[in-house]
Formats: sequence, structure tokens, C-alpha cells
Amino acid sequence: MYTKALIISFAAIAAATPLSIRSDYTVGPFNTCSASDTAQTSCRNTTAIQDDCCIETRGGQLLLTQFWDWNPAKGPSASWTIHGLWPDRCDGTYEGYCDPSREVTGDQITEIIQKNGGHNLLRYMRRYWKDNASVDGNLWSHEYNKHATCFSSGRPECYASTNNATHPQKDVFDYFYRTVELFKGLDTYKVLKAGGIVPSKTKTYSLEEIQNAIKKAFGVTATVGCTKETGEIAEVWYHFHVKGGNVYNGEYLHIDGGKSFCPETGIKYPPKEKAEDN
Ligand SMILES: *[C@@H]1O[C@H](CO)[C@@H](O)[C@H](O)[C@H]1NC(C)=O
Ligand SMILES: *[C@@H]1O[C@H](CO)[C@@H](O)[C@H](O)[C@H]1NC(C)=O
Ligand SMILES: *[C@@H]1O[C@H](CO)[C@@H](O)[C@H](O)[C@H]1NC(C)=O
Repeated sequence: MYTKALIISFAAIAAATPLSIRSDYTVGPFNTCSASDTAQTSCRNTTAIQDDCCIETRGGQLLLTQFWDWNPAKGPSASWTIHGLWPDRCDGTYEGYCDPSREVTGDQITEIIQKNGGHNLLRYMRRYWKDNASVDGNLWSHEYNKHATCFSSGRPECYASTNNATHPQKDVFDYFYRTVELFKGLDTYKVLKAGGIVPSKTKTYSLEEIQNAIKKAFGVTATVGCTKETGEIAEVWYHFHVKGGNVYNGEYLHIDGGKSFCPETGIKYPPKEKAEDN
């Protein structure tokens, strides 16, 4: 009895107090932008953008994507984990691997974040940004190399005189910092739970129930992804336009998701049974 109660209360505490990262990191500084550029929103600009460092023009629709990795279980049992931050074009198409010269390995990413003082950021990433099959750095480098190299406004050229010895490759650091900050505001586990959708070995859910829970929390839908063969929920993608700044310092405006790839009913949400909760 005692042991059981203790475990339950620990789980409740662990879920209620997510790891926070230091708030004294800042993104940028960036090149100076004109007032007409900073008045614009990506994909909704009414005049041509003068400087594509100032407003995202290459992938004006941003996606913060998350995994439900239950088999093998990755990350805390009461949390989804980070997949990445992606630039889509305004019409939903996208490109990948835009600049091979900027590609980095997982070890290089770790070193860059450490040199920029991001020890707490790294700790958070190790807990919530999990590779499902290999070392976490493999997913981090895949995300950076495939997606981050395609932002118009996250290029090293967009950083004024910033890549100095104390803050090397701040553009790489900022990708991971901003992605984590966005993820912290998009707690899929909590949002689904508030709609009565919790992991279960037996219960199934409809796509409508899932979308209603997401809509209730954020006012818009998301793209929900399921495994093809077995119909388990596997991913959620949140879509945004960015207002008054670039991909790392602009304000994210939440928009509706695209077409989900899940069945209408019978969606499974299996528990993470051997999660690393400590
Ligand atoms: C928005 O900005 C892009 C990039 O400068 C430009 O190609 C496009 O024509 C602009 N849209 C409008 C409606 O001016
Ligand atoms: C890991 O995730 C990728 C991308 O979602 C998927 O294709 C792959 O099958 C997964 N591997 C395992 C071991 O679950
Ligand atoms: C190095 O760059 C950072 C921002 O990336 C800036 O805050 C700092 O002042 C710069 N240091 C020097 C010595 O220029």
C-alpha cells in the first residue's frame, strides 16, 4: 500500500513540474530589419519582404512536431517528445537538406550548445528530444541538417557580428533553443488528458475526439499521424505563421493543421510501459 501510494504521488509530482530551462538565454542578435519587414507575418505579407533574414520567406509555415514513442518507450511516460521544427512553404510543400556545407553531427551540436552555455538546454533535450532507435544526437543532427538548413531567416548570414568565440555558431544553438521553448508551450499529453484521452491498452479514440481536445486547448486543429499498419497515434504536428520577426525571435501564430493521416475511429494510444521516468 505504502509503496503504491508513494509511486503514484511521485508520478503526479513528476508530471506537474516539467524541467525548466534558464530564461537568461537570448536568441540572436540579428541583422537590423526595416520597419516594413518587421510589420509583416510570414505567408500573409502584403508587400515583398526586403530582407529574408527578417521574415521567414523560404518556409513561411512552421511546424513544431512531436512523437508518441511508446515502443520502444522514449522520454517520460506522461509526456510526448520533440521531433523537430520544420519550415513548410505556405502551400504545405517543403524542401529538405538545403545547405550541405552547414551540416553538423550530434557531437558537434552538443559541443556548440555547451560552448554557448546551454547546459540546462542540453539536459532538457536529453530528456524530451529522444531518438527512437539510436543516440539522441542522431535525431538532433537529422532535424538540423534536413530542416534547419532550409530556413531563410536562420542562416549564419542573418547573425550580425554574433558568431564570436564565446558564442560560436549561435544559429545552431538558436534552432535547438527555440524548438524547446515552443515544445514547452505545446503539452500534448496534458491537452489530450484534459479531453479524456489517456494512454490505454484497451481503449481506442476517434480522430474527432483527438482534434476536439487539441482545438479546445489551442483554438485550432493539428495534423495527427498514426502508424499505417496498426493504427496507433504516433505524431502530432502543430502549424504556425511567424509575425514581426524571424524564425527564432518572431511571434508564433497558431494555425489549423493539414490533413491527418489516421483512421477516423479505433485509434490506439498505448501506454509507455518501460519509460525512463527518473
Ligand atoms: C511576400 O513576400 C515574398 C518574398 O519577398 C514575395 O515573393 C511575395 O510576392 C510577397 N507577397 C505579397 C502579396 O506581396
Ligand atoms: C523510429 O521512427 C522513425 C520515424 O518515425 C520510424 O520510421 C522508425 O520505424 C522508428 N523505429 C523504431 C525502432 O521504432
Ligand atoms: C558574442 O556574441 C554574443 C551574442 O551571440 C554577444 O552577446 C556578446 O556580446 C559577443 N561578445 C563579444 C566579445 O563580442
